[in-house]
Amino acid sequence: MIEIIESRRTFHLQTRHTSLILHVLDSGHMVCLYWGGRVLDHSFSYIVKEIKRASYLSDTDGIKDFKLEQQPLTYPAYGNPDMRTPAFMFEYEDGSRITDLRYQSCKSYKGKRKLEGLPTVVSEECQVLELTLRDVAMKVEVVLTFAVFEEWDAITESVAVKNIGTKVIQIERLMSSCYSFLDCNFDLVTLTGAWGRECHFSRQPIRQGMFVLDSKRSASGHGQNPFLALAEPSADEEHGNVYSMNFVYSGNFEAGVEIDMHQNTRLMMGLNAFDFNWKLEADEVFQSPEVVMVHTKAGFGEMSRIYHRLYRDCLIQSKYAKQVRPVLFNSWEAAYFDFDKERLLVLAKEAANLGVELFVLDDGWYGKRNSEKGSLGDWIPNEKKMGGSLNELAKQVNALGMQFGLWFEPEMVSKDSRLYESHPEWIIRVKDHEPQLARYQYVLDLSRREVQDYIINAVSKVLDSANISYVKWDMNRNITDLGSFALPNDRQKEVSHRYMLGLYRILEVLTRRYPDVLWEGCAGGGGRFDAGILYYMPQIWTSDDTDAIERLDIQFGTSYVYPAIAMGCHVSESPNHQVGRKTSLGTRGLVAMQGNLGYEIDLLKTTNEEKTAIKRQIAAYKEMRHTIQNGTLYRLVHSENERAWMYCSEDGSRAYVSYVQILAKPNTVPKRLKLQGLQQGIHYIVDNGKETREGSALMEIGLALPKVSEDFYARQWQLTREE
Ligand code: GLA
Repeated sequence: MIEIIESRRTFHLQTRHTSLILHVLDSGHMVCLYWGGRVLDHSFSYIVKEIKRASYLSDTDGIKDFKLEQQPLTYPAYGNPDMRTPAFMFEYEDGSRITDLRYQSCKSYKGKRKLEGLPTVVSEECQVLELTLRDVAMKVEVVLTFAVFEEWDAITESVAVKNIGTKVIQIERLMSSCYSFLDCNFDLVTLTGAWGRECHFSRQPIRQGMFVLDSKRSASGHGQNPFLALAEPSADEEHGNVYSMNFVYSGNFEAGVEIDMHQNTRLMMGLNAFDFNWKLEADEVFQSPEVVMVHTKAGFGEMSRIYHRLYRDCLIQSKYAKQVRPVLFNSWEAAYFDFDKERLLVLAKEAANLGVELFVLDDGWYGKRNSEKGSLGDWIPNEKKMGGSLNELAKQVNALGMQFGLWFEPEMVSKDSRLYESHPEWIIRVKDHEPQLARYQYVLDLSRREVQDYIINAVSKVLDSANISYVKWDMNRNITDLGSFALPNDRQKEVSHRYMLGLYRILEVLTRRYPDVLWEGCAGGGGRFDAGILYYMPQIWTSDDTDAIERLDIQFGTSYVYPAIAMGCHVSESPNHQVGRKTSLGTRGLVAMQGNLGYEIDLLKTTNEEKTAIKRQIAAYKEMRHTIQNGTLYRLVHSENERAWMYCSEDGSRAYVSYVQILAKPNTVPKRLKLQGLQQGIHYIVDNGKETREGSALMEIGLALPKVSEDFYARQWQLTREE
């Protein structure tokens, strides 16, 4: 709901449990009065009136005691006279960088439209508020668009810049959202890591100064997810105020927190200003990607559940958004590049016998690709290697009762490829430097329309040639030597964002053209696990690291924002190919059941005993998957040596509890595991046994943890409501 209290020039945005209140000062500057638990009052301007003044600040507009630098500004400019880090920066033709935005008008309506060319969280249900700010002298308008997802407890914000004059404006910095707190007592929470250990939860206190989390890789990146939260120091999984932002974008981003000298905090998120500039001609509009803002008083657990629901309901556009996902087998860690038709079919037969529903042929099926060294870009099936056409292979896999899926890496071109030979100018590069190779490949210049069309046609041709039900869309290197031969000198700093716009156009066309295909995003694992990709592709490969123990941290961290149904989680060999760790099949299976279960294992080497166990795992997962993929997640324990989590079904009739002890310790007495999300007064049957336990007892007293002397021990419980 959005209340516009005209006389007070106040805008009260309300979700079920939160309020965001914005206000126009007499001077026309916009301030944030409040963001937090829902409040019901109709007058809030006293909040700014009660801000105590400090000295050594200039009076704004010559008004005595009016000091803009102490106001919690909604979309702050730099240097007029606020001197803190601004939300935006424009440069004008005369070299001036001073912008003075004052409130102009507002518009409110129902139903949020998709942002043109950009992934968007959408719903017919939500209320939208557009606030127009203007600098009359510089002839520029900034429109802040807020959308209230009342039912989901979330608010989105994006920003559009309009050049309403006749001269060029250079956009040098443009955050999509900025919120100013009159307080600084927060912990900073980020999801950070590296390739193979993406999205680890990290928490630290913040102090006066500036903290920036960013990506300069033209991908959201393995090292830093485009998410940032400020939490009360006492906040935990179940309690406490948490304020968070998540960027619906897959390229360079910046998430900043600044604590100023008066202990106020500015939280902002948007396109990375580093190496960015956009030339905005007269009458042109630049639309920023959007930020999702989630506040809760009920800790990190509730924050995650809000994102999960919102993303399943309103972000993921695929028809599979809420449909249970097939158990898949992927050929990568089973065969790498070393396969022929016979090997594939033997693997497929074995997989089908185990209950696998989708057989995915990973890298190595096209051009003359038998190693990382060549053929990316030449999306022509290697019929010699596959002993026939893709269509035949797909048919044979289908005949085994499985769907057939295929790997692509369409944004790339190998130096050794026909495509590069005929179009060396199609890669991202600058003129006078030899471009860097990474994994023997260059990045195609997706800012060029003809390159976008090439990719669309090449992928379509393969998809039209066979019954392909699934595509894994990979992206295995970051962009270096950022430059485009297609853009003039004064637009070179636009390349990174234009690349993303090009990628989004390709994905929009292909996912609409092939709505029945289940698309899975990947970027060397979780190098682009973000809401931008999820808009187009309903699941993402969480990490190239398939070690069950490392996956605990990766999947726990990822679950802070992204729903289980978005996470690809596979059982692989032991010893693990990435870290060499040995874990039991049971533990690997249980950890992979935190998301969409798959297998990447050489079934030709698997023993009969292991096959029987895998068959059982798959059958059990099929029973559980609706609850895992569409249910409600509770993270129960996140300590150094133990993890526990549970999923409850939407109707409350079932729950699955998982527990992992990392290292066995001597002389310890295991404690109890308190559950969450159950119903008071309802009895649950534990593990199909004779024993039943009441909901509140399970939540307050808990299940007894077993005493085991075993590293990497895992245990799962099933709870079924007694009818
Ligand atoms: C990336 C992916 C892997 C696999 C390989 C194939 O590393 O993350 O899963 O598909 O590429 O080259």
